[in-house]
Amino acid sequence: MKKIIVMTMGGLALTFAMLILQAPASAGNVVSLRGDNSLPTNISAPKLFKAEEPEKLFSRAYKGAPPLIPHQVDYNKDKYKITIRKNGCLDCHDKSVSDKPKSPKADKSHYTGPNGVIGDEIFKSRYYCAQCHVPQLQTEPLVVNTFVGSK
Ligand code: HEC
Ligand code: HEC
Repeated sequence: MKKIIVMTMGGLALTFAMLILQAPASAGNVVSLRGDNSLPTNISAPKLFKAEEPEKLFSRAYKGAPPLIPHQVDYNKDKYKITIRKNGCLDCHDKSVSDKPKSPKADKSHYTGPNGVIGDEIFKSRYYCAQCHVPQLQTEPLVVNTFVGSK
């Protein structure tokens, strides 16, 4: 019986030692967007940041990655609204639009269905642009990031 108790104590000590060794490195000064506010507290809405508008387009994260949006986007404004009836993005980015020559047109991949046929209208699975394309905001990153996209 004594032997079993000693073995159990030994096992527990070992487990504690392993837990301490495996403790994650300190996260430094990372502060959540909620600050120190507890979950039930109502906090004021975070301030709005301006969109980052690079001189050239953003470089892609990797070959074939959906490009980041290099302009401001306000989904509440008609110009950018995406509803079942209207898609503001297509007013500038649809391949049929020729009076907005500066806006890059959605690639033919966006008009291709699963059978490989390229249609005249944006394919349904690409309709909700925001699913893949996101703007960037002028703000300090929460943690340091040295990532560089592919050219
Ligand atoms: C009024 C016209 C207009 C509207 C509306 C618009 N865009 Fe753009 N978009 C542009 C222009 C112009 C550029 C190119 C910017 C540049 O060259 O600096 C661009 C660039 C982009 C790019 C970058 C493409 C690349 O190859 O890097 C993406 C992605 C994009 N827009 C997505 C969207 C999405 C999604 C919406 C809707 C939420 C939208 N845009 C609405 C005019 C528009
Ligand atoms: C399922 C993800 C997805 C959705 C949804 C989507 N895109 Fe894209 N988009 C991509 C990817 C991936 C690329 C880069 C590869 C390519 O061109 O197919 C891209 C490229 C683009 C480009 C750059 C084309 C070029 O030749 O450089 C534009 C502009 C664009 N998308 C606009 C749009 C618009 C507008 C919508 C909504 C109507 C949209 N996309 C919906 C994934 C998506």
